[in-house]
Amino acid sequence: SDSIPVITIDGPSASGKGTIAQLVAKKLAFHYLDSGALYRLVALSVIQSNVDSTNESALADIALNLNVRFHDSSLQLNGEDVTNSIRTEECGKLASIIARQLKVRAALLQRQRAFRQPPGLVTDGRDMGTVVFPDATLKIFLTASAEERAQRRYKQLIEKGINANIQTLLQDIYERDARDSTRDISPLKQGEDTKLLDTTSLSIEEVVNEVLRLYNACR
Ligand code: CDP
Ligand code: CDP
Repeated sequence: SDSIPVITIDGPSASGKGTIAQLVAKKLAFHYLDSGALYRLVALSVIQSNVDSTNESALADIALNLNVRFHDSSLQLNGEDVTNSIRTEECGKLASIIARQLKVRAALLQRQRAFRQPPGLVTDGRDMGTVVFPDATLKIFLTASAEERAQRRYKQLIEKGINANIQTLLQDIYERDARDSTRDISPLKQGEDTKLLDTTSLSIEEVVNEVLRLYNACR
């Protein structure tokens, strides 16, 4: 599968990874994998099944046996539509707590690699370029200032009719950045062979075009 192109987009919470990765995948008619959704699904399963979130083997078991179906932009867990329920900050926070465990990460590795199918894959997360697809065709580290990311999350929530508070969102972002960047296993970091894209003052269209330009330049 090594000859199948992969574009990895890693970066902190609310930097626009999912939005950009999906648009780039659509442009290139590539497959798309939201790796964060897998960690969120494990977190949701933990909440639903009352499993102790410090029990590594139990969590690995959940991660290995996730019964998940990806349909375009919707997601099913055990036949139930969880597209929206995995997006809460409660789920994001628990995802980042369980994502520190080696056994959980190992359990999700093959499932992620299986998405590398012709004609190509665009994937986003924290360690897609550093660990999951080290031989990726193009690696991007997508970021924006914490304030800008809090604003983006705020707008996203308000548009969905969900109440939100900028200060709380900013606090959540600082907390998750710190936890994801300082963990021992697969921390969020810009790899050596990775292009840094600071999107603080860029539109979605500008970012998509820049990723496509970088991809066309390296393939
Ligand atoms: O996947 P991640 O958490 O990194 O971010 P997202 O949910 O894809 O994006 C957060 C929000 O930022 C979305 O509402 C996007 O429309 C918006 N946005 C963006 O993604 N890129 C920009 N350059 C500007 C805004
Ligand atoms: O959308 P947002 O960027 O806030 O989060 P996400 O991409 O859905 O990921 C949720 C959490 O899962 C992150 O805070 C990470 O701790 C973890 N994660 C990870 O460890 N490795 C990945 N490849 C993707 C997500």
